[in-house]
Amino acid sequence: MKYHVLTLFPDMIRQAAETSILGRAAKNGFISVETVNIRDFSANKHNRVDDYPYGGGAGMVMEAEPVYRAIESVAQNCSKRPRVIYLTPQGRVLNQTMVEEFAMEEELVLLCGHYEGIDERVLEESVTDYVSIGDYVLTGGELGAMVLIDAVSRFVPGVLSNEESSQFESLQDNLLEYPHYTRPEVWHDRCVPEVLLSGDHKKIEAWRREKSLERTEERRPDLLKKSYQVRSLYYGQGDSAECAEALTRVLSRYGELMDFNRKKLRKTRWSFGKNDLLLFFMDDIDEEFCQVFMNGRKTPACLILSREISSEKKALLTDMLDKQKIRVLDCMDLEELQGEEALKRAGIQIRQKVLEL
Ligand code: ADE
Repeated sequence: MKYHVLTLFPDMIRQAAETSILGRAAKNGFISVETVNIRDFSANKHNRVDDYPYGGGAGMVMEAEPVYRAIESVAQNCSKRPRVIYLTPQGRVLNQTMVEEFAMEEELVLLCGHYEGIDERVLEESVTDYVSIGDYVLTGGELGAMVLIDAVSRFVPGVLSNEESSQFESLQDNLLEYPHYTRPEVWHDRCVPEVLLSGDHKKIEAWRREKSLERTEERRPDLLKKSYQVRSLYYGQGDSAECAEALTRVLSRYGELMDFNRKKLRKTRWSFGKNDLLLFFMDDIDEEFCQVFMNGRKTPACLILSREISSEKKALLTDMLDKQKIRVLDCMDLEELQGEEALKRAGIQIRQKVLEL
């Protein structure tokens, strides 16, 4: 990943980018952080880049032309037109899904403002994304740019060591991390929870999930509303099982796989709630399966169906599910979900759809 940071304070970026994991990643060539000093593109002999606001009022405004030239100096050397992200408290508040989406790009241009802001016209012309790092006002965009670079880089292959990246991505499920403990077993009369010493991995996993839920409920109940239990229902002979397993893993640490080829599962009527997220994987449609067994409560769902299934049949299935109060948000081709990259993209797309609900 190549980051190009357009700023009036390049030292601020360089210092942070040379340190710790980002510094290591840059040294090893997994990321590069290039700074572009907007002042170098001033059209003014005094190197000024700001001016008084039209209409009066306090503060100065960064001029359009130097910002435009700085962006073009970078964009013209990129293999495709890059996304230009303006860091501003007026942007969309950065979240993990946005971070993962940015991580799919090869290059990102980050524009840092100062003073009262930047002339609106160059923003209209050149900026593709407006991003805020939270509902507070900073003195400039640099810290925001660094936050974005740090979060995005974690998803760039090679940046984290195996050990670092196998860590539970807590926010993947919109849940907070469970509590952690290390030696000694007793500290200030406080013991490590016994289950963690049991060596029973199933029990440990269940305990961690429970703690994650408890903690989220207590500290961030707002997140819990956006937390979905992923249930993948697959049916058919072809690739659906493999695909179901892979996409479920991309979407959730706690996803559940339901193999509807098993007669036993097809004998039950299933009820799903509004915090279930259903993924239907089918390489053929069995109408009985769709019509009889599903029952939702505004339950969001995605269809991942074989390309062979006609669009009439897909529409019929969507209709059937709708009648059972299962809301189809998206429909994807089973055949297209091959490989890690495609799965990651599909995961992001599904999460965005769910986030918009
Ligand atoms: N610049 C000033 N405040 C900001 C914020 N909250 N997020 C991103 N950039 C900013």
